[in-house]
Amino acid sequence: MALSKELILRVPDDWHLHLRDGALLQAVTPHSSAHFGRAIIMPNLVPPVVTCEQAAKYRARILQAVPHVVSGGHVFDPQMTLYLTQGTDPDDVAAGAKSGLIKAVKLYPAGATTNSQSGVSDIEKTYPVLERMSEIGLPLLVHGEVTDPMVDIFDREAAFIETILDPLRRRFPLLRVVMEHVTTSEGINYVRSQSSGLAATLTVHHLIINRNSLLVGGIKPHLYCLPIAKREAHRLALVEAATSGDKRFFLGTDSAPHVDAAKEAACGCAGMFTSINTMSCLAHVFENENALNNLEKFTSLNGAAFYEVPPNDARIRLVRKTDPVVFPAKIESTDGPVSVFNPGFDLFWQVEQDALAHD
Ligand code: DOR
Ligand code: ZN
Repeated sequence: MALSKELILRVPDDWHLHLRDGALLQAVTPHSSAHFGRAIIMPNLVPPVVTCEQAAKYRARILQAVPHVVSGGHVFDPQMTLYLTQGTDPDDVAAGAKSGLIKAVKLYPAGATTNSQSGVSDIEKTYPVLERMSEIGLPLLVHGEVTDPMVDIFDREAAFIETILDPLRRRFPLLRVVMEHVTTSEGINYVRSQSSGLAATLTVHHLIINRNSLLVGGIKPHLYCLPIAKREAHRLALVEAATSGDKRFFLGTDSAPHVDAAKEAACGCAGMFTSINTMSCLAHVFENENALNNLEKFTSLNGAAFYEVPPNDARIRLVRKTDPVVFPAKIESTDGPVSVFNPGFDLFWQVEQDALAHD
C-alpha cells in the first residue's frame, strides 16, 4: 500500500484577508481561524476603518466570531490595519502602532475596488502620514492599480508601479511597503529589483487562474476579482515567485467574500472566498512545481519575517489523500450563500485537524 504523503508546517499566516462584518463575518471567520495563526485584516468596511477606535472595536467583533475551540491548538490573532484617507491623522496612526493594535496602513486609490470611495485621489495629501510611518517603521500596504479611466484594466498594475509606487519609494526610501495581490510579471520584477523595504503578497486564485479562466466559454462571475486575473505568462511568473522561496513573496489570500447574489449580477462584485481551501490549493500548486519544500516559507515564514514577528509555534499537518478532497460548493450565511473558490481541478491535500501542539 502506498504511504500517504504528509507535510508538517508551522501554522500559516494570511497577510491579506477580508472578514467583512455582520452576517458574513460570522460565516467566514471560522474558516480562517481554523487554519491560520495571524491575519492582516483589511479595513474596507462600510464605513471604512479609519481610526484606532474603530479598529479596536472591529477587532473585538472579529474575536467574538472566532469559535471557542480553534482546532490545532493555535490562537487566531487578527492584525488590524487602518484605511488611509486624505484626512488620516498621523498622531492617531502612531499611537495605534505604539499600542500594538495597528500593524499596517492600507492605501486604496479612490475608486480602485470594493468600498474604496474614501481612498486616496491625491497621494501628496497623505505625505505627513507616510512620513510618520517611515519614521516608526509601520508598513504601507498598497492596492497597486491606477484608476485613470484611460488606462486599460489589464495594464493598471504596471501603470501604478511606474507612476505612483516607484516615485513614492524614491520619496520615502525608508517606508516599508507591501504590494498586495501582485498579478503581473512587472510587479514581480519590480519587487525583485528592490534590495530592501519592499515585499509582495500573492493570492491563491492568481496562482491558479488566468484571464481565460474568467472569460472563455462564458463569463464566470465567481472568478472576477481585482486586480483582474491576467494572461498566462503573468500567472507563470507569480507561480515562479511564490514557489521560489524568495523572502520577499508571501501569502495574502485576499479572500474577499460576497454573497452570491452580489456576484451573479449585471454588475457583479470583485472578490472570491478562498479561506476554506487555501492550503489545499497551495499544496497542489507547490507540488506541481516540485516545490513542496518551499511551501512553509511562503505560508508561514517569509511574511512573519517581513512583519518582524516570530513564526507561529504550533504546526498543522497536511495529508495527501488518494481520493479527491470534497469542499462545500457554498457556505451559508444569514445574508445568503457564499460560493467557495473552485480551482477547476481536484484537490488531494487536506489540512488534518489534529495538528501538532507547540514546541
Ligand atoms: O477582488 C477584490 N475584492 N479585490 C479587492 O481589492 C477588494 C476585494 C473586496 O473587498 O471585495
Ligand atoms: Zn483585498
